[in-house]
Amino acid sequence: MLFLMKRVLFCKVEQIYSFTTLGKVRSVSTVKREGCFQKPSTPVAKMENIFTQIPELKRSHIHIRDIKQVEQKIKDLSQGNHEKLQVITDFDYTLTKSHLNGTRCTTCHGVIENYSRLPASFREKQKQMFEKFYPIEIDPHLTVEEKLPHMLEWYDEGHELMLQCDLVKQDFALMVQENPTEFREGTSALLSDLNQQNIPVLVFSAGVGDVIDEALKISGLMKDNVKVISNYMEFDENDKLIRFSSQLIHMFNKNESAVRNASYFQELSHRNNVILMGDSLGDLQMAHGVEPPSTVLKIGFLNDKIEERLEKYKDGYDIVLVNDQTMDLPHAVIKMILSSA
Ligand code: C5P
Ligand code: MG
Repeated sequence: MLFLMKRVLFCKVEQIYSFTTLGKVRSVSTVKREGCFQKPSTPVAKMENIFTQIPELKRSHIHIRDIKQVEQKIKDLSQGNHEKLQVITDFDYTLTKSHLNGTRCTTCHGVIENYSRLPASFREKQKQMFEKFYPIEIDPHLTVEEKLPHMLEWYDEGHELMLQCDLVKQDFALMVQENPTEFREGTSALLSDLNQQNIPVLVFSAGVGDVIDEALKISGLMKDNVKVISNYMEFDENDKLIRFSSQLIHMFNKNESAVRNASYFQELSHRNNVILMGDSLGDLQMAHGVEPPSTVLKIGFLNDKIEERLEKYKDGYDIVLVNDQTMDLPHAVIKMILSSA
């Protein structure tokens, strides 16, 4: 009897966190209801503590598989001092919004695509590629191995097209001025707090580093505690674009890229408390270079194909934010950690 009552309680708890703010309420909560018998949640008594400390966690679009583990991680991160903490974040659709008023926002590749100096034919081809390859990238029914050749084709063709455009270094600042990146609400406040507390922030992106640098600069976010690891372009003595740097970072090899950038992680080897933020399952690998033993609190933004991907996101990320275009929750967690550290 006690067992049955507990089960009912578990399901209720799961259901509270099942509702989305979109019109997908029914199917998402169904997925979670089915899931709750397979993977029970944490007893309510345990939850009250963390929910009191971070009330933002109660919001209905926030999904957590294992609240006990989240509570423990936040406790561990809070017990470490400021010197132990670092933040690792993806760029496209993580620091930036994925949607704005129902319209898809651009990625950093999209910023180049929309640049007025480039011909309409370039824009059209890039757009066609996004429409072809992005659905493959987020397809919940394909494995990474099945997606990979398509993703490589996307990068190859995209880079090839850019190389034909006679771009020069100075174009990147201009194109970002024309198409300012839509950072999530609260990104500036979050990065400003991290800067004040000297917490290193790694922006780890499979996008275009030259665009990211300019986007951060123009928004006043490129501070001395921020480092970008991404795909950078190479220019000749006349500042003409000649090639991309040889080691491609794509959405599914961030673990290898972390190894290639071992010096960054070695310098921060004492900082093994990590807040990781991403929007792709590939982003879960971004903390690969962090020295063990580490505590990595993973916060995931689930922006597309929500019902189909929610369970996998809950498996990988400690906290999943469904269709959230703000930094409210990560900021609340970080504020809590910094205030108690
Ligand atoms: O910053 P982040 O790692 O998310 O940047 C990678 C994203 O850039 C991919 O998830 C993909 O959606 C997008 N992309 C693109 N055009 C390309 C290659 C990747 O928009 N040619
Ligand atoms: Mg991304």
